[in-house]
Amino acid sequence: MSGRAVEFRVTPGGPLRGTLAVPGDKSVSHRAVMLGAIAEGTTRISGFLDGEDTNATAAAFRELGIAVERPAATKVIVHGAGLRGLRAPKRPLDLGNSGTSTRLLSGILAGQAFESTLIGDESLSKRPMRRVTEPLSKMGARIDCTPAGTLPMRIHGGSKLRGIDYTLPVASAQLKSALLLAGLYAEGRTCVTEPAATRDHTERMLAWFGCPPERTEHRVCVEPRPLRGRHVQVPGDISSAAFFLVAASVVPGSDLTLEAVGINPTRSAVIDILIAMGADLEIGDPREISGEPVADIRVRHQPLRGVRIPKALVPIAIDEFPALLVAAAFAEGETVLTDAAELRVKESDRLEAVADGLSALGIENQPAPDGIRVIGGRPRGGEIDSRADHRIAMAFAVAGLAASGPVRIRDCANVDTSFPGFPAAVHSLGGEIAVA
Ligand code: S3P
Repeated sequence: MSGRAVEFRVTPGGPLRGTLAVPGDKSVSHRAVMLGAIAEGTTRISGFLDGEDTNATAAAFRELGIAVERPAATKVIVHGAGLRGLRAPKRPLDLGNSGTSTRLLSGILAGQAFESTLIGDESLSKRPMRRVTEPLSKMGARIDCTPAGTLPMRIHGGSKLRGIDYTLPVASAQLKSALLLAGLYAEGRTCVTEPAATRDHTERMLAWFGCPPERTEHRVCVEPRPLRGRHVQVPGDISSAAFFLVAASVVPGSDLTLEAVGINPTRSAVIDILIAMGADLEIGDPREISGEPVADIRVRHQPLRGVRIPKALVPIAIDEFPALLVAAAFAEGETVLTDAAELRVKESDRLEAVADGLSALGIENQPAPDGIRVIGGRPRGGEIDSRADHRIAMAFAVAGLAASGPVRIRDCANVDTSFPGFPAAVHSLGGEIAVA
């Protein structure tokens, strides 16, 4: 989708039916390129997410002197240069809209001999970066950002890192991963304790690349060890699948199967929450690919009821709340989300964006500093500002498929960061989204 003024016009209609392979997992795609680049030997990635965020990671590693081949849109070959093989970039590394690229890269770059600068788009330039620069400084890195704690981030390089034992102040897989990656360059052990479980793709992929971290509940430690390049097959992204799990649940008559979706238990609370809401989900053929569990998920329309979302599930469904709160808008009764202040510092302030969007569709809701209460009903048509946030755009597109009137969503170009071809995917299942 070129240009920034992309608008989705969604017409409510008939059932969604068929089979869909959602694009590759964004988190796993980023990590496969990153670990491939600092591993020894070749890493072949299949099922790579051909999205703007993951392509920003690949472009950054090219700037860092890594040969990254692209034989097909979803196939990537990374010629690893080993832990010490990256080269100084000639220009600032532009990570676009991608928080994951920025935070994970800052961990790798903190351990390099050269200086680098990270920049991003308007949204990324507002997101908090001190959460990574502070612990990396404790490890001995010289790294700074603006007085507001935002990009540009300058990583001076040439510092000797030492392992630390750090308790994360927020449940963040990006932060945990940045420290584990910096730990590959540090003297001694680097240990990270998390306040609640967050996605463990970095830990699994380090093991896949021959460097298994030591893990106990909520605590993970790494030591500097060389990585070996490998074939990585990327699962379908459960965060992208979430839009279809909700869409099929709320559009009467729907029956969809989503193939080879990642169901890593540190990522898949959207399934548990939807089941608690009464959704009809069937998990078929569970299997493992490249160290990650996947399954085919069948979802059929079923009336939903509101739920109180358990605190422990919040970090495990963190990217799925725009979709889940749209599900709540169609559910009978109220849904209450708390302990989710992190949603305010994503690609947009997602609590505010969802609250405004639901109000525009006539759904009563009460936002709070760390959550929101949604009183389910029958969303009507209306106009939504996605705030250039891909997940807000797609969540409200789902609302439009089952609303009582058409829904127009402004500023949808960033859907390409995680789900290129989203309107076509909806169309292939019988839904209607016009792109203007
Ligand atoms: C991600 C971690 C999450 C998530 C983001 C991807 C990752 O961010 O929101 O989309 O790949 O590690 P936080 O770690 O900041 O919660």
